[in-house]
Amino acid sequence: MPRVRVHQHVNPLAPFYRFTPKPILVENVFDNPLLPLHLDVGCARGRFVLKMAEMFPERNFLGVEIREPLVAEGNRLARENNLINLHYEFNNATYSLDKLLENLPTGIMHTVTIQFPDPWYKKKHAKRRMVDGNLVETIVEHLKISGKIFVQTDVDFLAEEMFEIFRGNQSLREIETSENPFPVKTEREIAVEEKDLPIYRAMFEKIS
Ligand SMILES: C[S@@+](CC[C@H](N)C(=O)[O-])C[C@H]1O[C@@H](n2cnc3c(N)ncnc32)[C@H](O)[C@@H]1O
Repeated sequence: MPRVRVHQHVNPLAPFYRFTPKPILVENVFDNPLLPLHLDVGCARGRFVLKMAEMFPERNFLGVEIREPLVAEGNRLARENNLINLHYEFNNATYSLDKLLENLPTGIMHTVTIQFPDPWYKKKHAKRRMVDGNLVETIVEHLKISGKIFVQTDVDFLAEEMFEIFRGNQSLREIETSENPFPVKTEREIAVEEKDLPIYRAMFEKIS
């Protein structure tokens, strides 16, 4: 099956992406909606959560992505592989993750990953970067106490910028980490490692 072709980048500030999604109802998308939930924000083709869902049937996995064709492809693959614990949602996480998660049952979100988000190098494009204060607040609001957030990137200035936002949140404490704690690597992580480039990683735990 050929890969779906998509634009490499989309501008999350464009009017088309500033829509209000319907809140996700876990009972409509997962076979067992109350399993511990892992959220992967900016999942692209979603192979990380697909492999994780195969390895961990006792958890649910939700991939969120702004490029809609990839979401459709991911959900098709989840169906074809009978992965009843995997679902993808089309969402502009910076703009409306709060709406998407509005009805999430309290205490089910155990882990969150943000892996290699688009850097938007130019200063004039800084507002297009996915991780901002609102996104972090939304994630922290829904994460269970003792839940973990793992963030990684190969872009030094972006690491600094993102980690500072997470560090500024009083409900989180940083856990030292230099490794990916998951048994699966994203496509981007594999590509960066093949080039032997540095990867900046941080992990946070919700404490209050
Ligand atoms: C460089 S890719 C990394 C993909 C994957 N996490 C990996 O590590 O291989 C960044 C992804 O984030 C998505 N993205 C960018 N801005 C987003 C936003 N505001 N909301 C949701 N996804 C976004 C992009 O479309 C892209 O698929």
